[in-house]
Amino acid sequence: MTAQPLCLSIGALSATLPNGDRVLRSVSLDVAAGEVHALVGESGAGKSMIGKALLGVLPPGVRQVEGSITLEGTRLETLAPAARRRLIGARTALIPQDPLTALNPSRRIGPQMTDRLTHILGWPAASARARIREMLAEVHIREPDRVIAAYPHELSGGMRQRVLIAAAFAAEPRLIVADEPTTALDVTVQKQILRLIADLQRRHGTAILFVTHDLGVVAKISQSVSVLYAGMVVERAPAPELFATPRHAYTKALMAATPRYTHPASSLQPVNSAVLAELALEVRAADTEWKRAHG
Ligand SMILES: Nc1ncnc2c1ncn2[C@@H]1O[C@H](COP(=O)(O)OP(=O)(O)OP(=O)(O)O)[C@@H](O)[C@H]1O
Ligand SMILES: [Mg+2]
Repeated sequence: MTAQPLCLSIGALSATLPNGDRVLRSVSLDVAAGEVHALVGESGAGKSMIGKALLGVLPPGVRQVEGSITLEGTRLETLAPAARRRLIGARTALIPQDPLTALNPSRRIGPQMTDRLTHILGWPAASARARIREMLAEVHIREPDRVIAAYPHELSGGMRQRVLIAAAFAAEPRLIVADEPTTALDVTVQKQILRLIADLQRRHGTAILFVTHDLGVVAKISQSVSVLYAGMVVERAPAPELFATPRHAYTKALMAATPRYTHPASSLQPVNSAVLAELALEVRAADTEWKRAHG
């Protein structure tokens, strides 16, 4: 078997809150070059925290205390902070959940899009402007001049997310973290945006760590999946395998809670309390073992 080159490899990553509790519990996952890896779990599971650890923007007080993050063969922990920021700036990008808060309300769209290319990556201004125009066409924006000159509030939510998607792909990153990129949008727009991300992903061969709480989205977009609960990966599998034969009781419960995965007409099922009790035991066992190993 030939090993597929890995874009991202996270190994036994633990992060703690100021009180010493772990918010990520020995998380391991791999994202192959050019694949979409979904990170799925309920609110508070630690999905965004994994993305933040990778991008080097953990909230104040949250610390990576163990584990490794390897981006295209380079272990990020071995780099000095400035070198780490440079590598992340050059190889990764973020598509955020809320396009409005991700944009500066008092600046026009054009300069906000070119900033990253000129300031962080050192592109000449004219090349950055040309690239942004190309990218706006790729995300099917027909009036680039109007959009470039607009302030964020002058665009619809869907348009703003197109702009941020264009900006994310502009510098040809190897890996994009897409953190619930459709959650803040209207349902009809969600579908278009999801299709757009999938299209660009294929065309550019970009790997994506796709954060979502929606198994329907996972099925549409991803090749592999990690199911997260309480900062713990409870199951990892290629997407078709996960849907055909989910192994963990929590994965099964999530599927049962996603109506379109069972019967479209059935109501949303809460996760079974026996499953939650089982998970609490797993979390406790993992923490006990971790504390024993770390004194
Ligand atoms: N700034 C912070 N300081 C301390 N704890 C935080 C901070 N941000 C998040 N947390 C905690 O870390 C845990 C994981 O949060 P995270 O934002 O990664 O969840 P998530 O899976 O992305 O959830 P959601 O679907 O709601 O976005 C949660 O228990 C949350 O309360
Ligand atoms: Mg989140």
